[in-house]
Amino acid sequence: MHLNLFIQSRGHHEAAWRHPKSSRLPLTDIDYTVEVTQKAEAGLFDSIFLADVLGLWNDVSTTPFNWLEPLTTLAALSMATSKVGLIATASTTYTEPYNLARQLCSLDHISRGRIGWNIVTTWSPQAGGNFGGIGQVTHADRYERAEEYMAVVKGLWDSWADDAVLDDRAAGRYADPGRVKAINHDGQHYKVKGPLNLPRSPQGRPVFVQAGSSDTGKRFAAHHAEAVFTAHLEKKTAKAFYVELKGLLAAEGRDPSQVLILPGFSPIIGSTETEAKRFSDELNDLSDPEVGRNRLSLRFGGADLSHLSLDKPLAPEDLPNPALNEASRSRTEVIVDFVREQRPTLRQLLAKLAGARGHFVFEGTPDQVADLMEEWVAGGVADGFNLMPPVLPEMLDVFIAEVIPILQKRGLFRTHYEGNTLRSHFGLQRPAA
Ligand SMILES: Cc1cc2nc3c(=O)[nH]c(=O)nc-3n(C[C@H](O)[C@H](O)[C@H](O)COP(=O)(O)O)c2cc1C
Repeated sequence: MHLNLFIQSRGHHEAAWRHPKSSRLPLTDIDYTVEVTQKAEAGLFDSIFLADVLGLWNDVSTTPFNWLEPLTTLAALSMATSKVGLIATASTTYTEPYNLARQLCSLDHISRGRIGWNIVTTWSPQAGGNFGGIGQVTHADRYERAEEYMAVVKGLWDSWADDAVLDDRAAGRYADPGRVKAINHDGQHYKVKGPLNLPRSPQGRPVFVQAGSSDTGKRFAAHHAEAVFTAHLEKKTAKAFYVELKGLLAAEGRDPSQVLILPGFSPIIGSTETEAKRFSDELNDLSDPEVGRNRLSLRFGGADLSHLSLDKPLAPEDLPNPALNEASRSRTEVIVDFVREQRPTLRQLLAKLAGARGHFVFEGTPDQVADLMEEWVAGGVADGFNLMPPVLPEMLDVFIAEVIPILQKRGLFRTHYEGNTLRSHFGLQRPAA
């Protein structure tokens, strides 16, 4: 079973930042991220993950959805840890491929082979207003650009052969120019000559992680991803996603075992069910449905949801059509599917989303949490999990102390790191140059 720790704010519950057991450190204090990452390493996690949004999209009066820039943060984490994998989001829509290829290659050298890249096309409409004045690029165009972007960065990471650097002091030859090649990419969106100005990194290139789950997103994952994050409110949809994506991989001629599917999982753990429920109630009592309504509106690209009554059962038609959503399409599909099946009131839906923004939330004892994880992995629903503790570091501490030993006892999780790279933790091959 593979475990990634998703570090965000003071935990994934909307009200985590106000909970008495969440960290007291400012979110801009690197010691906070270092402390949580070191805990993940002590707990033998495969990796940690930092998300990113290229604009201020939250209401700052109520939501501390701000964090240090992920790539620079990974550099700091690289120096404070030695084993755990380090994954960050970077956008294919609002960055230049040469810059990003160089930054990720550099990070893979700095961390000695522990970097993963969460490839996103950036759903947030705010980003469009911050880069080049082009406005928001449509969902379809973002993925089309992303395909070309991948060709460029892959070319750049392969522009140095593994053995290009000779560093032969006696002969006075630093590198073999025959093993360093320009890429001369001349495409619709990018013109990049290359080669990269850095030798190939320990992992060859960063591990490719992907987190878009729309139909286009799944096809993109089938072409490129080596690990996939995905959000599901129900086991049924997680299973359908798993089966479909593994099928797409086989159809692409790729080995399905070389792509890990890691759904988000936010366990609220108590020594008894009552204790877990109490913790969950504490968080819900700190939540404000109007904060949730605003967040939900942003998922639909800023749609006006102010007319919806909090206590009337919702119908799918009350929400905008996800197929026309240029923002976060797959997440809104998950939400509308849930409304179709369960007919919650808006208040109930917002309480559900407050837990982990549309990822799977579960309350229970350590044994119940371990049972669920085992069931999903054995039942072909997941290859592991993107763990999203509701409150950090509290629920991570409980997970490491109480759940990991059960998983280890059942032979489901490592008892020591066997290698030093993220590829090794994920069981992935190193790509040939
Ligand atoms: C666990 C997880 C983390 C994500 N992190 C980011 C992120 O940091 N930045 C971002 O722009 N999108 C993020 N996304 C969103 C997706 O990558 C994707 O851009 C979005 O869902 C829209 O594409 P889609 O409609 O194909 O899913 C994340 C999704 C998941 C499931």
